[in-house]
Amino acid sequence: MVILKNDEEIKRLRELGLIAANILKEAVDNIKEGVSAKDIDVMVGSLANKNKVRNAFKGYRGYPANICISVNDEVVHGIPEEKKVFKKGDIVSLDYGVEKDGYYTDLAISIIVGEGNEEDKKLVNVTRESLYRGIEKARLGNRLYDISYAIQRHVESNGFSVVRAFVGHGIGKSLHEEPQLPNFGNPGCGIKLKEGMVLAIEPMVNAGTYDIIIKEDGWTAVTADGKKSAHFEHCVAITKNGPVILTALEGFNA
Ligand code: CO
Repeated sequence: MVILKNDEEIKRLRELGLIAANILKEAVDNIKEGVSAKDIDVMVGSLANKNKVRNAFKGYRGYPANICISVNDEVVHGIPEEKKVFKKGDIVSLDYGVEKDGYYTDLAISIIVGEGNEEDKKLVNVTRESLYRGIEKARLGNRLYDISYAIQRHVESNGFSVVRAFVGHGIGKSLHEEPQLPNFGNPGCGIKLKEGMVLAIEPMVNAGTYDIIIKEDGWTAVTADGKKSAHFEHCVAITKNGPVILTALEGFNA
């Protein structure tokens, strides 16, 4: 069942989205050569306390950390370990969610440590652009897979591939609600978009094959061919005035 949100709930989700984006921005600002993913996880934990929000991923199906940090061939759900030390040229994808008063938000961004090579910059840019292509279709009168198709088309026309094994999702009083939102699909198909739907749109884009493998830790998804991957995510409300990005922060990811 798709749960529609009223204006009051959308306002709360926007406030929460802004808190999560500010925490994630601070995390990103601290990523540089020699810093470890664990350092960032610890920082995120104290920022969540300071902002009186709960780290939504911690304990979710047993996930052991505050944030997911996935580097290079890691697609999503990377665990921020001490030995994961950032180097120049790494693609770092950070995925972060918080909960407050029973409401959830979820966002992701990929960055390159220092100066990246042209191919990696293109991968990150195309992934970000594909998120915005999808958001543009999150409007009344469209259907769900219009979003999926817009993402897929932009990614594939640039020579990259869209991960099949993970999808976007509804969000609100749970981290994951219906509907599931694949990053590939046929335009004009899927459920009709309705006022009050809130969707976490999250393209995961691989430089090579879309196939992934889960590592022995039971969480980290890596590309099957070892090539790099990027991930961006926003929560978006469908309103009569068009898509409203609930996790946007000026000067960071907007
Ligand atoms: Co998500």
